[in-house]
Amino acid sequence: MILLIGATGFLGPYVLKALLSKNYKVNCLVRPSSSRTALLSIAKSAGKNIDFSTGNLESGDSIITAIKIAGSVIYMVDLEYTNLLETFLKTAARTGLKRVIFISSTTVLIPLESKVKSQKINSENLIKKSGFDYTILRPSMIYGSKNDPNFSKMIKFIKDKGFFITFGSGNNLIQPLYIEDAAEAVSSIINNKKTYKKIYNIAGKSPLKYNDMLKIVKEKLKKNFRIIKFPLRLSSLFISLYSKVSKNPLLTADQIARMGVDKAYSYQKAREDFGFSPINFEKGIEKLIKKLGD
Ligand SMILES: NC(=O)c1ccc[n+]([C@@H]2O[C@H](COP(=O)([O-])OP(=O)(O)OC[C@H]3O[C@@H](n4cnc5c(N)ncnc54)[C@H](OP(=O)(O)O)[C@@H]3O)[C@@H](O)[C@H]2O)c1
Repeated sequence: MILLIGATGFLGPYVLKALLSKNYKVNCLVRPSSSRTALLSIAKSAGKNIDFSTGNLESGDSIITAIKIAGSVIYMVDLEYTNLLETFLKTAARTGLKRVIFISSTTVLIPLESKVKSQKINSENLIKKSGFDYTILRPSMIYGSKNDPNFSKMIKFIKDKGFFITFGSGNNLIQPLYIEDAAEAVSSIINNKKTYKKIYNIAGKSPLKYNDMLKIVKEKLKKNFRIIKFPLRLSSLFISLYSKVSKNPLLTADQIARMGVDKAYSYQKAREDFGFSPINFEKGIEKLIKKLGD
């Protein structure tokens, strides 16, 4: 039995679908207030049954029974929350659990300091010291679900407004990962001993310049939208002023700074150890545009 922690999130339902297609038995840990509807509907479409345990990572006692009955755990709660990870590790150490897959992020590789980055690095260090047969996967930016906050949002914006706003020259590299490739990676390494006590980057097939990504989106959307570019430095200054006066800023200065950085990652180790072979951005965005419909 595999225990999925974070099943109700963005990536979780795709991981559940991939696990069921490989005939794994799955138990989903859900908080009392979380909806199970989407997970039940995935199980129904796959013609499989799934189990649920109610619990919250804030309390070790509420998750211990779910961990005790699991052969392996997939932990998909953001590693930014080091306190939740600590509760999980302490609780799991009281059970016979050995195998855990953790989902980190390529954020830890970005050459800019941030609170989130250092929290995730702290969490990765705790995992490395934990003694479990862990694997840490570090996905790059994930896209490809109807509600993804990146490309779905961008496509909906372009369709609605007929233009798009970008920051910086657009010459920086990005390497977004299609959500089904991320889920496939997670579900394919559960019993793969080669991956024990290792960390892998997983990303889209190859890096591309932000400007080239925009060209591909234009071509695949068959829509000639206008691109309004703002210089990075000026935008950063403006956004830091704006985020001081806005209670709920849409963008932060940190996010603007990250837009100018190359985000290209080698997944050679993942290819060698578990045959990771992601699709390219052209194919991924085509699939997403199809999912979004008219
Ligand atoms: N999204 C991306 O582009 C991306 C890119 C790279 C890496 N990642 C990594 O992939 C992992 C999954 O990301 P995601 O985008 O799917 O995350 P998400 O949408 O924020 O989902 C987080 C999940 O964690 C659960 N959770 C949060 N606090 C909890 C608690 N106290 N007890 C039990 N469950 C709790 C949430 O449950 P509720 O439904 O109850 O809130 C939800 O199921 C994360 O580690 C993230 O850093 C994501």
